[in-house]
Amino acid sequence: MSQSNYDVIIIGSGPGGYVCAIKCAQLGMKTAVVEGRESLGGTCLNIGCIPSKALLHASERFYESKNQFKDLGIDISAPKVNLKAMMKHKDDVIGANTQGIEFLFKKNKIDWLKGWGKIVDEETVQVGDKKYTAKNIIIATGSDVASLPNITIDEKQIVSSEGALKLPKVPKSLVVIGGGVIGLEMGAVWSRLGAKVTVIEYLDRLLPGMDKDCAKELQKIMEKKGIDFKLSTKVTNAKTDKNGVTLEMEPAAGGKAETLKADVVLVAVGRKPYTEGLGLEEVGVETDNRGRIKTGDVFDTNIDGIYAIGDVIEGAMLAHKAEEEGVVLAEMLAGQSGHINYNLIPGVVYTHPEVASIGYLEEQLKEQGVDYKIGKFPYSANGRARAMKASEGFVKIITHAKTDKILGCHIIGAEAGTLIHEVATVMEFGGSAEDLARTCHAHPTLNEVVKEAALAAFDKPIHM
Ligand code: NAI
Repeated sequence: MSQSNYDVIIIGSGPGGYVCAIKCAQLGMKTAVVEGRESLGGTCLNIGCIPSKALLHASERFYESKNQFKDLGIDISAPKVNLKAMMKHKDDVIGANTQGIEFLFKKNKIDWLKGWGKIVDEETVQVGDKKYTAKNIIIATGSDVASLPNITIDEKQIVSSEGALKLPKVPKSLVVIGGGVIGLEMGAVWSRLGAKVTVIEYLDRLLPGMDKDCAKELQKIMEKKGIDFKLSTKVTNAKTDKNGVTLEMEPAAGGKAETLKADVVLVAVGRKPYTEGLGLEEVGVETDNRGRIKTGDVFDTNIDGIYAIGDVIEGAMLAHKAEEEGVVLAEMLAGQSGHINYNLIPGVVYTHPEVASIGYLEEQLKEQGVDYKIGKFPYSANGRARAMKASEGFVKIITHAKTDKILGCHIIGAEAGTLIHEVATVMEFGGSAEDLARTCHAHPTLNEVVKEAALAAFDKPIHM
């Protein structure tokens, strides 16, 4: 048995783990990362955010060329999907990104301990038959797909987000269970490529946790593109045979059951913290009733020297939230201070159009009895959006009625995920709608929709 000594050993190389490792190394700590997958980057780079964006981009270009080019005065012969080539594009993107992390590890002299890690005690991690010691152990093992009772994911006919990224052919019909982020993004991909997509959602709305108006608007837009939605419905059973999958479902509140057949079913009902085989129980690391590792203000668990960040602890299961936590924890371990404003973590759904959200929701402010104002401006009144044939959607800015401070912003429309960041910056500095509205915005840009929404909140919009 060999032994190495590190300042930090991080278990998991997803966005939380690898970013934390780079920051630790930059701050002078001797750092190692344990990763059992064949490539670095975790779920996000290998089977999540990055590959899904490759397919979203490719399928969107296909949809555009088929349905929208003629409106721009471009005649082309009927485009066809070459799924093998599209999947190769996705795999190339995964390869480039994961190898990029390997390069950054080498550059920063971070050791990759290949294998699955198990914590033996507060300073020892076992990987295979080797034991490594460190002053600090950081758990960044992320999350795994949540399943449903009576529904067995086989990654062929009943798939998780992972299987949905590598279907061998475009299914004639795809049923998506769960109208959340994954369900809508992957549903959009396969719908654009030709599948008849039906989304079944337990709640009476899509995208819980995001702005209601944006969710309603997105549903309308997706329905126009041929996606069916069954809201307030729960799936109770799924049976597979060689002809496909038969789903049994009933109204969420109870009532008459019905069946629905599909070639492929995607289960996208959330994710759960991934802590299997980590040795948490043996070492005595406490988890909550949802299996999340309990942490204090400095990501410390109840065991001295063991920390946790990312999807495996409380909070939004988002790559960028994990990254921020990784950086702040590294700074704290180096004796610096760090801070995360959890109210200003943007959320983006990469459908077309995109949905983006930051800060408070209207419902939350109502509940807290805050006196708020709303400034809303549609893309349809923006010249650049018209030129791009992207007039669907709006920007909604919520401000404090007395101080004009921006409390939240919710956008549905082209490039919403990019536009939200100018509002994020203003909010990070405690800015007001007037600050944003009096900032000169280049013309013609989509950002002018943001400016006009800010004007609408503090005064009056010009172009409406
Ligand atoms: P989600 O929590 O976003 O959505 C799950 C949906 O399934 C909810 O609307 C829920 O009401 C519904 N549901 C639950 N049980 C159901 C049932 N029995 N029948 C019908 N509907 C049911 O979870 P999702 O989409 O699986 O994503 C998992 C995590 O990954 C989320 O935390 C999400 O934020 C993250 N993610 C983020 C992305 C992004 O930032 N663009 C992309 C993909 C995932």
